[in-house]
Amino acid sequence: MLEIKDLKTNFNTYDGVVKALNGVNLTIKDGEIFGLVGETGSGKSVTCYSALKLLPKTGEVVGGNILLNGEDITHASEDRLRQIRGGEIGIIFQDPLSALNPVMTVNEQIGEILLLHQDAEINKLASEKGIPVYKSEKWKASPGVEFTIMAFCISFISLFIMLGQFTFSLPFLFVIGMMFLRDYLQRDIPASALDLMVIDALSRVKLPNPKQIARSYPHELSGGMQQRVMIAMALAGKAKMLIADEPTTALDVTIQAQILQLIKDIQKEENMAVLLITHDLGVVAETCEKVAVMYKGKIVEEASVDQIFTNPRHEYTRALLSAIPKSEKHLPNLSTNKKSARTTKSESSIDDFLKVKKEIIDE
Ligand SMILES: Nc1ncnc2c1ncn2[C@@H]1O[C@H](COP(=O)(O)OP(=O)(O)OP(=O)(O)O)[C@@H](O)[C@H]1O
Ligand SMILES: [Mg+2]
Repeated sequence: MLEIKDLKTNFNTYDGVVKALNGVNLTIKDGEIFGLVGETGSGKSVTCYSALKLLPKTGEVVGGNILLNGEDITHASEDRLRQIRGGEIGIIFQDPLSALNPVMTVNEQIGEILLLHQDAEINKLASEKGIPVYKSEKWKASPGVEFTIMAFCISFISLFIMLGQFTFSLPFLFVIGMMFLRDYLQRDIPASALDLMVIDALSRVKLPNPKQIARSYPHELSGGMQQRVMIAMALAGKAKMLIADEPTTALDVTIQAQILQLIKDIQKEENMAVLLITHDLGVVAETCEKVAVMYKGKIVEEASVDQIFTNPRHEYTRALLSAIPKSEKHLPNLSTNKKSARTTKSESSIDDFLKVKKEIIDE
């Protein structure tokens, strides 16, 4: 699915060139759930931003290749990259709010992705069901205008009734009657194909009341819901791969577990490959099949999760594992007892471990 070969990325800073990646090699197969762990600053995020060409202006890929299903996208055009991001590869970040557009509703944002990547599907659904493609043809003014007209009519009706001139209030009664008649006549007009597909994407990430969420703006949703919307966007684009950079770090522990479970479910249901970047070995043990350990801009070890936990080869990995409390260290424990894996979060933090262990590995 995604193959990263000898990737090198530099940043030009005032203090000179910072070599963030020194030859990263990674292969993520179709449908595989792959963990990338490493301490802060080891280059995990830079690896995924380099792969998707999302680096800031100061960053530059100076060597290596990125292959997506065999296609070399190292020097792909901006158009092709736009197709890939949100199309073939969905991305979710630690802070979903910064990745969502604050002035567009969820419906508009997912709709945009559908129009960009699923045009044929929308048209097909519309013709199958005999419904409009984009906007349903219901005629209704905005809620504010509807309310004003109604309030206006009711005040005049009451005024004329008080004045004993009931006949004058008849035209206003007529207007109200027409509004109800309109709603009655339009009751069977279905939603548009685009609306249906947005709702479908939102239901697949198990959001309750998807219709209402579709109408909301990102800030009206909780962090967990925002992250689900981000995942729905990846699904809407029919992504074959999801890159998740610390997707649960900003969430509280129970929501964290729900989002990880959702990622696992979706990976199974859609056979999606997932690259999960995390600090948390507990998360890796519970979620991933394979894991790569990153240190100073390089992958120092890559193995199955079982292997890493039972027989780590690299000294850095061993040091990393020693930061997990003893009782949590056995993999069967971690993968069968979800609660224990979740509670390892703070204990297994690589940053904590780093303070203690750095001296033994640094040259
Ligand atoms: N905009 C930038 N300018 C200069 N150097 C940068 C920039 N972004 C990243 N780097 C360098 O790249 C290295 C890797 O950063 P990266 O963000 O990939 O770390 P990370 O492993 O994702 O850490 P974290 O776990 O904290 O997210 C950092 O040590 C930093 O020196
Ligand atoms: Mg990062």
